[in-house]
Amino acid sequence: MSSLPAPDLARVAEDLETLASYRDPDAPGWTRRVFSRFDRAGREWVAGRMEEAGLTVETDAAANLIGRLPGAGRPGAIVTGSHTDTVQGGGRYDGIVGVLGAIEAVRCLRQAGAELGHDLVVVDFLGEEPNDFGLSCVGSRAMAGALDEGHLALVGPDGRTLAEALEEAGGRPGALAGARWSTGLHCYLELHIEQGPVLEQARVPIGVVTGIVGIHRLLAHITGQPDHAGTTPMGKRRDALLGAAETALAIERLAVELLAVEAALAGERLAILRLGHARPAVGGVATTGRLEVRPGASNVVPAEADLWAEARSAEEKTLAEFERKLGEELGAIGARRHLGTSLSWISREPPVLVTDWVAGAIGQAARSQGIEPLSLPSGAGHDASYMARLGPMGMAFVPSRAGRSHCPEEWTDLEDIGRGVAVLAQAVIICDHREEAVPGEAAQRAT
Ligand code: GLV
Ligand code: MN
Ligand code: MN
Repeated sequence: MSSLPAPDLARVAEDLETLASYRDPDAPGWTRRVFSRFDRAGREWVAGRMEEAGLTVETDAAANLIGRLPGAGRPGAIVTGSHTDTVQGGGRYDGIVGVLGAIEAVRCLRQAGAELGHDLVVVDFLGEEPNDFGLSCVGSRAMAGALDEGHLALVGPDGRTLAEALEEAGGRPGALAGARWSTGLHCYLELHIEQGPVLEQARVPIGVVTGIVGIHRLLAHITGQPDHAGTTPMGKRRDALLGAAETALAIERLAVELLAVEAALAGERLAILRLGHARPAVGGVATTGRLEVRPGASNVVPAEADLWAEARSAEEKTLAEFERKLGEELGAIGARRHLGTSLSWISREPPVLVTDWVAGAIGQAARSQGIEPLSLPSGAGHDASYMARLGPMGMAFVPSRAGRSHCPEEWTDLEDIGRGVAVLAQAVIICDHREEAVPGEAAQRAT
């Protein structure tokens, strides 16, 4: 195995700090939401860092930032990357470590004079986090050919469509077909913070991901009647907010029921494990994360409510069951409270399993650094879920302090980031040496 220089931790720290300075000063934490000027400026800076690292940079029709290091012409690229947008009130590491870490890995590979057979491509995907249109993974979705006209027509709170926002972010929504990755994928590798407590508790610095949870996102629209809050008797109201509140509680209850369904499926999962597939054992969870109420005055009975929520599970069947039950619950709430209800499923990301040989390469890379890695599933969504539709995929995790993420306190020690970068660079070399992927070989959907 070729020996690579250790990642330059001072350089990585400086990069992390500089990117963190591109943040919305009026928002909490380290906010840099997609389609904001802060995200745009941050990604321009990232493009500059890619160029300085020796990559040829272009932006595709979905505004993905793509830096390429040419190889010796073997078919299919090795693609690595993640995202640099954050949630509202987010941190400095989620996604960012995968982009800046990939750039540092390129520097290490170039410094070592490594000659790769395949092109190595670093991508800063546009907008991995859910945006104002309710959609996540905009860039990787487009690269996988899964961003459709329905998505582009989604309307945000300011009346703009996703297509308009994408255009402002430097994309070309009319030419999205061109963003589909068409030049072959040898494999996709993503370095990411764990965003959970497993690695820290186990005191293991590298995780090899077994699979990524599926995520179904919804928008429930509830309509009632605006009335005077002082003169309308309690029994005569059609209060949309109370309908939404009951819906949020139903979503919580259904999540708990999903856990029971998943437990019942455990036998089946074990059978699959015996067949050699690591099954992500992530329980069902569901969250209502956003609620908008109109007209929004304390002395008017709420007439309209929009509620955005999501359910996650490693089992597609469980998510389908959640959809069915929530539809029934919402209908019953509407009937009981004399409210209009409609439910739209904004996105459905199926659970995916990583590709065995890519996970094996990441494990081997960790061992080459003297680390015995831990295998674990991901309860967070990632661009890797979409890239898995194009070819073999694997992910490496580094620990998150106290498992915190999507908050300003999100933290990963620099030394752990350095280990992750070293593993990523080594995994690139191991994957590069592997024989070509079998045509059509891709990570499997979990169900
Ligand atoms: C991505 O951060 C997710 O929502 O899991
Ligand atoms: Mn995130
Ligand atoms: Mn992320």
